[in-house]
Amino acid sequence: MDNTTSELAASIRSIPDYPKPGIIFRDITTLLGNPRAFRRAVDELVQPYAGTKIDKIAGMEARGFILGGAVAHQLSSGFVPIRKKGKLPHDTVRIAYSLEYGVDEMEMHRDAIEPGEKVILVDDLIATGGTAVGATKLLRQIGAEVVGACFVIDLPDLGGRRKLEELGVSVHTLVE
Ligand code: PRP
Ligand code: HPA
Repeated sequence: MDNTTSELAASIRSIPDYPKPGIIFRDITTLLGNPRAFRRAVDELVQPYAGTKIDKIAGMEARGFILGGAVAHQLSSGFVPIRKKGKLPHDTVRIAYSLEYGVDEMEMHRDAIEPGEKVILVDDLIATGGTAVGATKLLRQIGAEVVGACFVIDLPDLGGRRKLEELGVSVHTLVE
């Protein structure tokens, strides 16, 4: 582990048996509250895309909003929220998905992205990949080009990274 990776890893808190028994929850609120770690995480997340024109960052509710907003600012891109169902006021596209501890539905505004626009997905963590795969399908449904996805944390045993790569999305993560 290099210095940046170990500093980021040390800033993330692990909570056993949350939200269900048997799950060790990786809590990034401690990273977000640490000025150095937050800046480092955002700097590292944008690194592969520096110098590339990215039209929009799509951030997954809820922690993808915080990181995705900062990434969008740094890349001078727009920001598009992908939300749990029933939260967006205008015409939406919706998809059901499953994740490590449940099932849900997510949606985004149908007119949030123009066909052909280049989009990067941002979230705090990839586990089973259900959320990111669902988001990729939604984005493709409205004609976006999903050029990559980035996450602070990868839980490799849950296989999400591989699922996303099998869909042709290149994945960038900072800590396992
Ligand atoms: C967490 C996390 C990712 C997703 C990862 O969000 O922030 O979005 O789960 O899991 P997956 O790879 O198995 O899909 P959660 O659904 O808990 O939502 P929240 O941010 O609204 O609490
Ligand atoms: N932290 C945050 N989100 C998650 C986790 C976790 O440990 N596991 C699955 N989604």
